[in-house]
Amino acid sequence: VITVLGALRAEDSKYSDPDTAPVDVSKPAPPEVIHPISDKRLPAAFRFSDKLISGAAPDTDDAFEALQELGVKTIISVDGDFPDEERAEKYGMKYVHLPIPYKEVPKERALELAKAVRDLPGPIFMHCACGKLRSPAAAGVVSVILGSFTKADAWNALVQAKGPGNYVRMYQSTQEFDKVDPALLDNLHPQFKAKADVARITTKMDEMYKPWARIDEARRLGWIIPEARKDLKVEDDILKIIDISIEIGKWPEMRKTDAMIKMRAENETELAKFLQTWRKAAGDDRPKELTKSFFQMTKSCDTCHDEYRNK
Ligand code: HEC
Repeated sequence: VITVLGALRAEDSKYSDPDTAPVDVSKPAPPEVIHPISDKRLPAAFRFSDKLISGAAPDTDDAFEALQELGVKTIISVDGDFPDEERAEKYGMKYVHLPIPYKEVPKERALELAKAVRDLPGPIFMHCACGKLRSPAAAGVVSVILGSFTKADAWNALVQAKGPGNYVRMYQSTQEFDKVDPALLDNLHPQFKAKADVARITTKMDEMYKPWARIDEARRLGWIIPEARKDLKVEDDILKIIDISIEIGKWPEMRKTDAMIKMRAENETELAKFLQTWRKAAGDDRPKELTKSFFQMTKSCDTCHDEYRNK
């Protein structure tokens, strides 16, 4: 099974084997409908049109400089996390926050996104967290609504952006839109805010994701953290995730069914095991053991996501 968190790093996640995906979205290779932007500062970036680029969340000054070089004026986030409005402003860009879930592009939101892309100053940079699922799905749907893409193009664009194949519902969702009469968008008057109202559970999940992503960086460094990356504090980050997990474990949003309660408890067990492994691991086996335990823990995050977030 692919994991979202794994899919964020699809190129080297052991969960990202496309052969295990329930829909084979990769074969035969679709025609190229979007154009990759080869710039290390902008991972997963693709040009959908002269006005619209999609990619991963820009979270460094380097990324913003790259956007500036592309002339970007407006950034649209479809991610749940709150945008870095101040940094965007520093680079002369405006943020619009129109989050979508992992399972689909909601109908109303799709029209708001299309209106934003059509009417706000461009070029526009649209992003989710990893740039592989929500943003390319949304950008494809917007392109269909505005008449520059066929439905097949929207599907193929998502394949090209490496949208993981187990997000079946998101793929289907891209096929549920048609070109609209421009007057329909003219009559729409959404509020384009830099920070949308987001459910507390989404915010907490993003708070868990940040330490998770830092631990993943430590994994990529082979768990041996160089002097220059002393900001990566694995133990602190595991403890942060555990704290949040315990806090939200009491919320009704996390206790919808017995199965969900059990999944969360298992996630907490895996977190505790990973903490133990981190504390004990030593010598040559350290990287191997830790990676295994980290993936195991991540898999238990995604067991719940597969059931309660992605479909
Ligand atoms: C028991 C269930 C459960 C577990 C365990 C769980 N999550 Fe989630 N997670 C959810 C649900 C439900 C959502 C969707 C929330 C929403 O409606 O936006 C979600 C959403 C997310 C999101 C997306 C937030 C956004 O901006 O849209 C991230 C990132 C995330 N989880 C990270 C994690 C990490 C990291 C772990 C493990 C350390 C984890 N989750 C464990 C249930 C869970």
